[in-house]
Amino acid sequence: MDKLLIKGGNPLVGELAISGAKNAALPIICASLLCNNTLSLTNIPQLHDVATMLRLLGQMGVVVTIGDKGTLTLDGCKLDNPLAPYEMVKTMRASILVLGPLLARCGEAKVSMPGGCAIGARPVDQHIKGLQAMGAEIRVEGGYVLAQAQRLKGARIVTDMVTVTGTENLMMAATLAEGETVIENAAREPEVVDLANCLIAMGARISGAGSDRISIQGVDRLHGADYPVMPDRIETGTYLCAAAATRGDILLTRASPALLDAVIDKLREAGCAIECQPDSIALKAPRRLKSVSLRTAPYPAFPTDMQAQFMAIDCVAEGSAVIRETIFENRFMHAVELIRLGADIRIDANNAVVTGVPALDGATVMATDLRASASLVIAGLVAQGETLIERIYHLDRGYERIEEKLTRLGADVRRVR
Ligand code: UD1
Repeated sequence: MDKLLIKGGNPLVGELAISGAKNAALPIICASLLCNNTLSLTNIPQLHDVATMLRLLGQMGVVVTIGDKGTLTLDGCKLDNPLAPYEMVKTMRASILVLGPLLARCGEAKVSMPGGCAIGARPVDQHIKGLQAMGAEIRVEGGYVLAQAQRLKGARIVTDMVTVTGTENLMMAATLAEGETVIENAAREPEVVDLANCLIAMGARISGAGSDRISIQGVDRLHGADYPVMPDRIETGTYLCAAAATRGDILLTRASPALLDAVIDKLREAGCAIECQPDSIALKAPRRLKSVSLRTAPYPAFPTDMQAQFMAIDCVAEGSAVIRETIFENRFMHAVELIRLGADIRIDANNAVVTGVPALDGATVMATDLRASASLVIAGLVAQGETLIERIYHLDRGYERIEEKLTRLGADVRRVR
């Protein structure tokens, strides 16, 4: 199993291009299940989760052609096996995103209950409830969701909580349903908007994406399209935090700072100087960061996917901060690992009190989930001496060529096999 060996102390300096967004690419790839023409995508990040999703669609009959420089074509005309087997989906929760499209296009689907990061129970009841409201018959048997519907019917769906993939699944299913579907309490995340824009390019009739009320007028069929995936706002935020923690000075290009308001506000509060252009963002860190308190919540508030990285910077900032996680019930697993590096963190239910220390010390730590791994990388970059991060397959799920990108910015990082 690969490990990452980091020699801490180098400030991150220089320019870096941001990759396409994992959490937009995954649902957009699933949108190819909705039509029998070719969907051509650009700015697709090379990540394990993307490869897993492509394998999954491939065994369903979608013809996947991977081009160079992040291009991809998906041809769904031979889709004949609406099955997502456990073996293929166990590592990736986003695989539940095939459920809505398969049901809408094939009238049936058999999808294994998903795995993914161990950050909480993460049920899929809202996906199921919404599809049932659209007339699907669904039962859960032997770890699989078994769904059937002649043709889905438009419905008004009010989700119990804001769910990102739930909104995406229902929105995709509704594009081919009969009549109008309205999703109330919809997720407003930019990745939902990116998916909606791709679906619209494929002929879907969707309005309100980006608000908490999305309305979809079903059509008989969708067609192929060319679509570029949006930049990854969480990758952007992660490199900003890494630069902030290491007293760095970086310019991130091909980014979308407009989608990062909450994160940028917090980095400014920590003392960083930040300048934004429409598609780039520059950060210069102060000599010592000030600690920042935060509370995660659905977009446009502070993203749960940036919580771990901010905990890492609070570990070495001046003062104490309270970090409150409100989305997932078990998302502080990085804290015990950060403590191994010398951090001062106290956890009380979904609150973490982090008191900055003058320095962290390198140690061997274990990556436990995707964003937790990112926080350990940031901590390793600031720690004195060597930090060895085990189980970095989590990082490879969501960060494209991370050691190469960090090395380009001056970090001393090596993959150990
Ligand atoms: C997506 C993102 C993930 C991010 C999360 C929250 C993708 C591929 N993943 O995950 O990176 O951390 O949004 O921004 O886009 N819930 C239920 N029942 C459901 C669905 C959700 O109880 O049917 C709960 C979850 O357990 C969680 C909360 O709702 O507590 C939000 O989850 P959700 O937005 O669905 O997260 P994901 O879509 O899985």
